[in-house]
Amino acid sequence: MSDALLDRISAAKTLPELDAVRVAALGKSGEITALLKSLGGMDADTRAVEAPKIHALREQVTEALSQRKTALETAELDRKLATETIDLSLPAPDSVTGTVHPVSQVMDELAEIFAELGFAVAEGPEIETQWYNFSALNMPENHPARAMQDTFYLEPRDGEAEARVLRTHTSPVQIRTMEKSGAPLRVIAPGRVYRSDSDATHTPMFHQVEGLVIDRAIHMGHLKWTLETFLKAYFERGDIVLRMRPSYFPFTEPSAEVDVGWSMEKGRRVVGGSEGWMEVLGSGMVHPKVIANCGLDPDEWQGFAFGCGIDRLAMLKYGMDDLRAFFDGDIRWLKHYGFRALDVPTLSGGVGA
Ligand code: DAH
Repeated sequence: MSDALLDRISAAKTLPELDAVRVAALGKSGEITALLKSLGGMDADTRAVEAPKIHALREQVTEALSQRKTALETAELDRKLATETIDLSLPAPDSVTGTVHPVSQVMDELAEIFAELGFAVAEGPEIETQWYNFSALNMPENHPARAMQDTFYLEPRDGEAEARVLRTHTSPVQIRTMEKSGAPLRVIAPGRVYRSDSDATHTPMFHQVEGLVIDRAIHMGHLKWTLETFLKAYFERGDIVLRMRPSYFPFTEPSAEVDVGWSMEKGRRVVGGSEGWMEVLGSGMVHPKVIANCGLDPDEWQGFAFGCGIDRLAMLKYGMDDLRAFFDGDIRWLKHYGFRALDVPTLSGGVGA
């Protein structure tokens, strides 16, 4: 019997076949089980002779089953390894990919450029109190400057004395940062701002970047150098010429609007040179009242600030001409003007990636 069983075990070609042999031998009504049961009906002498044989047979069969099982499993694994290969060097299948929006890309470029000059990135809320958006910036209620910006007012909440607003500029981040970090400080604050305005060059939501430096003995020379260094790095040209025009902002004194020179290249107006001028940002020395509103002593601390439209910076560098398309979410526009996720701006690589 043992040979017959062992033959059937080695003849089993699959695991289910092998298991059938196991059941036939060792299962409830298996052959060996039957032999074991028969021991009970034997007299002591016969049992003393038969029992070791039957137990040895069971051992032998169990061992043969286990070996065959391992052999079949190994063969199955080898077969799988040989047939189920994948080629990891194949390119990934084509799939719809998004792009990094030019506004995000420009914000990253700005952070990179200003980080090199020792500026941190600051943030503030887009829903702002009138104190931060206006009053602390030296624009008291009924000040005509408030009318300069077409403000979106929110419904006042229960118990709220004054309606909050969608911030009309990134300047309130100046106040929040001075309150939080004190002086000295160097920050830029890029972000969304809102004004009730809409045409080819205005959208109700757009982006600004604010710059703020507070330290001792800061003067307009620092402002001009910083802006020139920033714009040369951003436009990646050495021939960037700035022109500062006297202007008025309630939160700076003196205030200057900054124009950048342009010239014609192959029939296109490009930034660089000085054939003509276009305005790119507003700036000035932080008004002593603003510094005092943040709890700092204006006799000890001075500073400069500037505010600049990010969307416009993107248009000037990357050649889009309609601002509204920035916010249409048209995938074709994004494919054309967007950036690949790995085009991370670095100064050493050229911030334009
Ligand atoms: N907040 C101004 C605006 O939105 C821009 C601006 C001008 C910001 C001069 C400044 C500044 O920090 O110094 O029109």
